[in-house]
Amino acid sequence: MSNKTFFITTAIDYTNAAPHIGHAYEKVLADVIARYHRLCGTPTLFLTGVDQHGQKVQQSAERENLSSQEFATQVTRHFLDLWEQLDIQYDQWAATTDPRHTACVQKILTQLHDQGLLYKAAHKGFYSIRQEQFLTDKERDASGNFGPEWGEVVEIEEENWYFKLTDYREWLLGFLKKRPQFVTPAFRSQELLHAVEKFTNDLCISRPKTRLAWGIEFPFDRDYVTYVWFDALINYLSFSGYLAEPGANLPKFEDWWPAQTHVIGKDILIPAHGVYWPIMLHAMGFEDDQIPNLLVHGWWNISGSKISKSLGNVIDPKLLAEKYGTSALRYYLMRDISTGQDADFSEDRLHTRYTTELANDLGNLLNRSLNMVSRYHESVLHASETSSPAIESLDAVVTENLAQYHATMQKFEIHHALEAVWKIVIASNGLVEASAPWKLAKDPAEAEHLKAVLYHLCEKLRKISLLITPVMPAAAAQIQEQLNWTPASEQDLETLWSATLPDGHTLGKPQPIFPRLELPDSDAATETNA
Ligand code: MSP
Repeated sequence: MSNKTFFITTAIDYTNAAPHIGHAYEKVLADVIARYHRLCGTPTLFLTGVDQHGQKVQQSAERENLSSQEFATQVTRHFLDLWEQLDIQYDQWAATTDPRHTACVQKILTQLHDQGLLYKAAHKGFYSIRQEQFLTDKERDASGNFGPEWGEVVEIEEENWYFKLTDYREWLLGFLKKRPQFVTPAFRSQELLHAVEKFTNDLCISRPKTRLAWGIEFPFDRDYVTYVWFDALINYLSFSGYLAEPGANLPKFEDWWPAQTHVIGKDILIPAHGVYWPIMLHAMGFEDDQIPNLLVHGWWNISGSKISKSLGNVIDPKLLAEKYGTSALRYYLMRDISTGQDADFSEDRLHTRYTTELANDLGNLLNRSLNMVSRYHESVLHASETSSPAIESLDAVVTENLAQYHATMQKFEIHHALEAVWKIVIASNGLVEASAPWKLAKDPAEAEHLKAVLYHLCEKLRKISLLITPVMPAAAAQIQEQLNWTPASEQDLETLWSATLPDGHTLGKPQPIFPRLELPDSDAATETNA
């Protein structure tokens, strides 16, 4: 067991609307990485949660005639239920209305204020009363006007608190050049560097209560609440125990910080996580090596378009999990995208992968192997020393792909890790075809050979079950149950891998783990206006 620790976080989801497939993807991705590290025996902390403050939540609550707190609590429930349904095994839940978080944000604001890094200044600009936001030239239409979507636009002057972001621009440029691994994938690092080079403004970190009441109050100026991004980013610190009061029931900060990786989507790298966040940490006094790295994933789109409620193409992960099962949905979300790139969500592809890779390749391997042991040996396995070129070649595929699995998992390339596992699945099916156990069973001279083939198939299934545990924990447990083998929870992958099913081991009953889908014609999970 390694004594190093592994700490991973995700973005915290806005509670202004119910979760969609993009939110589910990010949580599954982080969960897979966390489960992989736990499986390897590394003490792991996985932090995720919800971003409950801000204008969008306040506006959605007003539309529903609810208080902002009631609305945020209601939407938070959807997220909590979904993470349970999708087997997201987080260790720490971050909800930004939690008083432990509020206290931490206020302590940080006070500290930055005491350090002279915050100042109050007036800003004059065009303000949309309907959208309750300042407009910039970007919002002007081709004729230079603010379009009707902005409603009444007035020029106002407003005082706010600013954080001296620009004082740290040179430091950030140096940091980015010194720490190329700060952002994965590398092409995003380049984008960030270019954005920082053009960065010229300090960060407005307050909103007057007269305009937005739903936020964390400024400890030294009670007419203001904290800008939602400044509040939200601090979740990574507050919920890992930073500046926690005794008895706060939070992790011990020194045991975990810095996180090995913050998992975020490409839309929130610039400026929030790539500019504000490292500068906030640096200004608070964190050393460079105490600043976490970022894993920036791409987006799921629908036929090349952004998923959005207004386009009516929102995919409900809850319905998909009900229809295909949690394991299959998690598998699809990890298999059909390359981490860092965008992908097109397609229920047809999910269906195809279910039928071919899950039901035909893996499900069938389990089913036929168990059935053959049942038919030829009354479900009892016999370890045999006998080998054959086909068995040896399968063993070589296993060794090669185990190494590939680890190498790609460590680089967060889950789709490649699954590809490696499927090479083992396919090669195991290949052993069935090459050795034709139904023929061996008819020839007494092949009795030992038959024992060896069946034993190897079940051993490979046991190993496959271990490798798929991070992506499909429920399916892995089902395979293990059918093999009548329970991995000891305190043992790590390496130990479990080299354990073997004993001679004379009795297997369980075969049951399809990916049953044939009885689907109605319509796409139940995809709401489409088109
Ligand atoms: N609340 C902020 C994050 C604060 S972190 C300190 C936020 N919330 S969000 O709900 O809009 O997005 C949460 C995460 O989901 C982000 O990382 C975002 O990139 C991700 N996704 C939202 N839509 C997505 C897709 N269509 N595909 C993949 N991920 C997507 O931003």
